[in-house]
Amino acid sequence: MKKLLIKGGKKLHGNVHIAGAKNATLPLMVAAILTDEKLTLTNVPHVADISTMANLLANLGVEIQLDGADKDGGNHGRVMILDAKEISNPVAPYDLVCKMRASILILGPLLARFGRAKVSLPGGCAIGTRPVDLHLKAMEKLGAKIELVSGYVEASVDGRLKGAEVNFEKVSVGATQSTLMAASLAEGETILNNAACEPEIIDLAKCLNAMGAKITGAGTSQIKIQGVEKLHAARHKIVADRIEAGTYAIAAGITGGCVKLVGVEMWLFGGFKGELEKAGLQLTQVSENEIEVKRVSQEIHSVSISTHPFPGFPTDMQAQFMSLMTMSDGIATIEETIFENRFMHVMELVRMGANIESHGNIAIVKGVKKLTGAEVMATDLRASVSMVLAALVADGETKINRLYHLERGYERLAEKLIACGADIKILY
Ligand code: EPZ
Repeated sequence: MKKLLIKGGKKLHGNVHIAGAKNATLPLMVAAILTDEKLTLTNVPHVADISTMANLLANLGVEIQLDGADKDGGNHGRVMILDAKEISNPVAPYDLVCKMRASILILGPLLARFGRAKVSLPGGCAIGTRPVDLHLKAMEKLGAKIELVSGYVEASVDGRLKGAEVNFEKVSVGATQSTLMAASLAEGETILNNAACEPEIIDLAKCLNAMGAKITGAGTSQIKIQGVEKLHAARHKIVADRIEAGTYAIAAGITGGCVKLVGVEMWLFGGFKGELEKAGLQLTQVSENEIEVKRVSQEIHSVSISTHPFPGFPTDMQAQFMSLMTMSDGIATIEETIFENRFMHVMELVRMGANIESHGNIAIVKGVKKLTGAEVMATDLRASVSMVLAALVADGETKINRLYHLERGYERLAEKLIACGADIKILY
């Protein structure tokens, strides 16, 4: 089992290529189901979740070509061509779905194009129960018949889905995405209220419109879709990964270094930019898609945050920000409002000498002068990377086990950090 051995104390300096967003790539791959023509995606990241989704789609009968060319040392997204001409088997089995919750996204497109789908309910996951009720209610609103049979969602519709007004009880990225895709081929107009506004929604709508959909309002809480009968081939460049970018910004901040993020634009940071600046970091757009990040304050300032849907503080950056706050000059309160169990990194950080008390979805972080390297366990994707960040500044060595969590969502993390001067050994 691969491990990382990190020796703390190095200030990071250098350039980091920011890959295409994992959380944009997954729904974009699923969008290929909506057409019998080819969908070409560029800037595809080298992360494990993409392979998992590719296996799921191949199981349905989608043909996928991926140029694995690691051009210029891998700092170059891959090109993926998806062809869903022949969907022979609109069934997503449990053994594939349980590996990745985003599998539920295929329900809408299968219904919209073929009128039926059988998708295993995804299990829970480490960070929470993560139900899919909002996805299913939206499909019913569009005219689908939904049954839950032996752990599977069995969905069907006579003829085409029908456009409708869908009011989401809570903001859901995935439910917005699956409904956006289904409505693209529905008959008539669909209006989504309380829709998610994340950049990954904007990117999906951009790609769907390139395929011939008629979507307006993506990026706002009300999205309108005029259904069309057919979608066609398109080529789409995947938006940069704002969470990867934010993670490296914090790596620069926590080590007191200076890192240039290559391939990302400032708007992707949303409200998160302001919180980083309050903590003592400076973010400067140095060219069209390059952002320089460095700490300009002697100390890391303590900043209290609460996670919210975009453009609020992203839940996917909460664990990383907590690592930064463990070394701050005061006390920071961190509130997690999106998921019910996203503090698994707390105890691992405490083992490294952090002073954190968590009560329910609130964590009180009191800055300490130093962290000490330890052997720690990765649990979920973002908790894992928060330990890498802490290890970069800890005294001594930290060994991080279960790297597969990291590889699900971070492209060549160790290599990118080593290229910026981090003292990291990869143990096989
Ligand atoms: C997406 O998950 C991301 N994953 C998550 O990133 C991210 O944390 C999350 O959005 C929030 O931004 C992908 O894009 C693949 P939600 P998603 O539906 O769509 C509840 C990472 O680390 N909910 O916006 O599953 C849900 O339980 C991952 O990259 C329902 O109650 O998130 C949660 O409390 C982790 N019913 C809240 O809504 C539903 O039907 C937001 O979930 C759906 C969601």
